[in-house]
Order: sequence, then structure tokens, then C-alpha cells
Amino acid sequence: MAILVEKYSAARIDSTVSVLAEAFVTNPLHISAFGPQRMDQNRLFFRIGLRHMFTSHAFVALLDGEVRGYMHFAASPSCLPPPEQIPAAAATLFEPLGQAVPKIVKWFSTWCRLDPEEPHAHIGPLGVSPDAQGRGIGTALMNRYIEHLKQERVAGYLETDRPENVDFYKKFGFVVQREQRLLGVPTWYMWRAREE
Ligand SMILES: CC(C)(COP(=O)(O)OP(=O)(O)OC[C@H]1O[C@@H](n2cnc3c(N)ncnc32)[C@H](O)[C@@H]1OP(=O)(O)O)[C@@H](O)C(=O)NCCC(=O)NCCS
Repeated sequence: MAILVEKYSAARIDSTVSVLAEAFVTNPLHISAFGPQRMDQNRLFFRIGLRHMFTSHAFVALLDGEVRGYMHFAASPSCLPPPEQIPAAAATLFEPLGQAVPKIVKWFSTWCRLDPEEPHAHIGPLGVSPDAQGRGIGTALMNRYIEHLKQERVAGYLETDRPENVDFYKKFGFVVQREQRLLGVPTWYMWRAREE
């Protein structure tokens, strides 16, 4: 079945929230921040993210006309806010997430602090519905991102919390730049050098 990659539109927010929450509910960082099997918290997190955070280059992957994957990337340095803005921003934006807020602050403050100075296009989140994984949807979305990196002659950057994703991203030319625990879980920071 053909996979169609197209620009995300807010009209697809409900199906996209479901795809992202299902994709990420078992990710170690999400379990650490929200608790195990917290679809409710993950849904809220991604609804807020889609409305207020993932506002740059956003794409969906459609299979049989249904959203099964989502990807967002943004150009540095505005890909993440300055670390000092995180506590206030998180307290306001993520207030509905209640007791997860301090962990979200720690999570995003760390990512902001580690964000490379060198110009890059920062990808995240990238997620595919669990029942549609392994069929090339993640690859189709990544190919769209790599096309952008090549066109703009810019480096790529990402964070990930699943060891199997490290191998996935290596296939697209990423290398591990740093490995560090965050909220008690191993996290990998990966870089793809700018092509001349
Ligand atoms: C990572 C993710 C986006 C990949 O999407 P996908 O549609 O399953 O990827 P593809 O079908 O294009 O797979 C591409 C390759 O990676 C491998 N791969 C993908 N996910 C894998 C996994 N979880 N474990 C092992 N291998 C995996 C596939 O076997 C395939 O290899 P091949 O080309 O040699 O056959 C998807 O697994 C996902 O949404 N995971 C949960 C959320 C997440 O961790 N997102 C990334 C955050 S940084």
C-alpha cells in the first residue's frame, strides 16, 4: 500500500494525537515522566505539543487515507526555547499534566541546554502507530527530512530514548554524539553532519 507524506494540518489534530500517544506511551522517557500506560497523559502532552510546540515543518504519513505517522522538525536556534524559559513555559503550557510538570521541566531544560550551537534542523517528535510500524512509514518520513537537510545544506540533530532507534537513525547517516541518563533512562543525542 502506498504511503503518502503530506504537510500536517490542524484539521488532523485528533487522529495525530492518537498516533503520537500510541507510538510514545511505551517510550522510557514518557513512562518516567507520566507513568506506565498513561495514554491520557500522553494524549494531553501531544495535544499541547501539536498546538503550541511543533509549529515549524510538520508532516503526516497517510496509509489508506488514515494518519499513521507524524514528524516535525525545526531550524535552530529557535528549535527549542532558552533553558531559563522552560520552568515558566512548562508550568503554564503543561499545567493540565499536574504532577508530571517538574519532570517535564527537567526533561526539556536538559534538551535545551544540550542543544548544539552549530546550525541544525532539529527533528522531533517522529512517531508511527505501533500496528503500522515496520512497514516503511518511519523511513518515508525520515526521507522527507533528509531531503530538507540536503536541500538546505544543514546538519541534522535529534534526541532518542530507545536503543533500537539509534540503529534506525544510523541508517540515515546519524552518529551518536552523546549518551547520558535523563529522568533515570539512557538517552542518545545524535548528529548528522551537513553535506557539502
Ligand atoms: C522509530 C519509528 C518512528 C520507526 O518507524 P517505522 O515505520 O516502524 O520504521 P520503518 O518501518 O521505516 O523501519 C525502518 C527500519 O528500522 C527498523 N526498525 C524500526 N523500528 C524498529 C524497532 N522498534 N525495533 C527494531 N527495528 C526497528 C525496521 O526493521 C526497518 O529496518 P529495515 O529497513 O532493515 O527493514 C517507530 O518505531 C516509532 O514510532 N517508535 C516509537 C516512538 C519513537 O521512539 N519515536 C522516535 C523518537 S526519537
